[in-house]
Amino acid sequence: MPKLGVNIDHIATVRQARKGKEPDPVEAARICEEAGCDSIVCHLREDRRHIQDDDVRRLRKSLGTRLNLEMSIASAIVEFACRIRPDQATLVPERRQELTTEGGLDVARGEKRIRAVVGRLAESGIETSLFIDPEKLQIDASKRVGAGIIELHTGEYANAKPGPARNKQLAKLKRATSYARSLGLEVNAGHGLDYVNVRPVAAIEDMNELNIGYSIISKALFSGLDAAVREMKELAR
Ligand code: PXP
Repeated sequence: MPKLGVNIDHIATVRQARKGKEPDPVEAARICEEAGCDSIVCHLREDRRHIQDDDVRRLRKSLGTRLNLEMSIASAIVEFACRIRPDQATLVPERRQELTTEGGLDVARGEKRIRAVVGRLAESGIETSLFIDPEKLQIDASKRVGAGIIELHTGEYANAKPGPARNKQLAKLKRATSYARSLGLEVNAGHGLDYVNVRPVAAIEDMNELNIGYSIISKALFSGLDAAVREMKELAR
């Protein structure tokens, strides 16, 4: 059974709507850990649209599991990570206009720069994972730059129509996992995984960890809405 990393970015998205203190991602992380997750994932974006520097600092201090910091390869972010020392850094491509991380990191194209970042993070004792599309070219490049872990982007799988199109994407994920394992890489997966599509990905042999955010936070809103309304109604009475 793969481990589960919960991405709590969108707790911070709701907080930033009012720029206040609630809901607090650190409190969310505590609940996720109590519920049995294996790591907490957050993405410190360059535009700070959800997670803030101080969230990462507080998570670093409070977590009982592992902190997996998603980040771009921008120097300021890399230096921040080296000061905070998360257990793991996951390098992702970042475009300002995107709503979420669209596509994997092009390790093959940015090999030199990414090798330097992996090395810099390793000097600070941080393990690096590379978020890549499930392609041989990217897996080979990930191995060459010295990353010990890859995370396969499951977006195309999640977006594919259930049936032959999705099965084709699943087969691609399976092939990529087994090839990466043959090179000695640890394999994680994530993006767009939800309560309907997660099982076949979880069943891939040697899958180490799934990182899931949006579907869990969305479900949590509806799991809690009934109780929240009842409590307010009671107070108003
Ligand atoms: N893994 C990585 C590297 C990501 O960038 C994201 C999105 O922030 C996720 C996993 C989680 O994706 P989702 O929120 O769609 O579950």
